[in-house]
Amino acid sequence: MERFPAFMMDERYQVGWKEITDEDLPPGDVTIRVKWSSINYKDGLATRKESRVVRKVPTILGIDLAGKVVESSDPELPPGLEVIATGYDLGTGGPGGYTQRVRLPREWVLPLPRGLSLREAMILGTAGFTAALAIHRMEQNGLRPDGGPVLVTGASGGVGSLAVDMLAGLGYTVEASSGDPEAEGYLRRLGAAQILPREEVTRPQRPLESGRWQGAIDPVGGPVLPSILPRIRPGGSVGLMGNRGGAEFTTTVFPFILRGVSLLGIDSAYCPRPLREEVWSRLGKDLKPRHLELLVTRELSRDELEEGLQTILEGKIRGRWIVRLD
Ligand SMILES: NC(=O)c1ccc[n+]([C@@H]2O[C@H](COP(=O)([O-])OP(=O)(O)OC[C@H]3O[C@@H](n4cnc5c(N)ncnc54)[C@H](OP(=O)(O)O)[C@@H]3O)[C@@H](O)[C@H]2O)c1
Repeated sequence: MERFPAFMMDERYQVGWKEITDEDLPPGDVTIRVKWSSINYKDGLATRKESRVVRKVPTILGIDLAGKVVESSDPELPPGLEVIATGYDLGTGGPGGYTQRVRLPREWVLPLPRGLSLREAMILGTAGFTAALAIHRMEQNGLRPDGGPVLVTGASGGVGSLAVDMLAGLGYTVEASSGDPEAEGYLRRLGAAQILPREEVTRPQRPLESGRWQGAIDPVGGPVLPSILPRIRPGGSVGLMGNRGGAEFTTTVFPFILRGVSLLGIDSAYCPRPLREEVWSRLGKDLKPRHLELLVTRELSRDELEEGLQTILEGKIRGRWIVRLD
């Protein structure tokens, strides 16, 4: 039986590469030969027991994967089909993407969207899907290109960079806030019209200030929300998906009750399948970032994976790092 490498968390919560076989994989409907995966902040957290990201050990880590079906009991996902899987319990309560082979429940597996290669799908990965889901939800809430500037926080990171590129591609005026002064040129090339220092979006504000942004995409959370909610224009929205800057915040009710501002919670992992398919389909079309090769700042080999997971925990990854598995 074929032996292949998988990056596992074991019963003692130690992580590392192991040689395994199909017999070590949990039962499932679709066996996939994995070609690419990626590095998300959650992948970094998953290597730390105290984060409680991983709920079941031993398991293969990695919340994203792209590859080819090799065996399947689902006629909709036949052998040879190129597929992706992101979110659900991938790499947290079930097997993940840092492996050459994996077996998954059919519900977790999507055919590769038209307009994307497997590699491009992993430059996007969970980060890109999350940015796209936020834009999609905010558009449903009235966001439109001529409605005024849109803020993106944590702009040099995965979700942030991808959101900047997608919004600019759709014709929005993007203001990007970053704690990395050296990221200015990069963010301008992605399409940001203005760069704001991180302090500008974490400074405390009065309960209501003059409306500046029609919307904001916020992977940082914590002190950002009390600072930006008072500056969202009437009827605008904030797509909140992260806690990179902190989990708690205190604010007032006034932006919500006097300006009708909406705080939209964005959860990529358990996004319902019809919405998931719709957003992934847009990622191959109108939401496809224009600068995928600028966004992918490193392509890691298996040997470099641990370094990547450590680097994202330190907040030092610009854009997206992907992992080559084959
Ligand atoms: N809800 C969901 O479904 C979902 C999906 C994906 C990601 N997320 C969350 O979104 C966040 C970003 O994920 P990611 O994979 O894009 O991570 P990432 O690549 O590390 O990006 C995070 C960015 O946040 C900024 N940042 C880092 N430390 C900070 C701090 N202490 N205070 C303020 N800003 C800080 C940095 O950007 P600058 O240097 O440019 O400021 C960093 O690049 C994480 O909290 C992640 O868990 C949630």
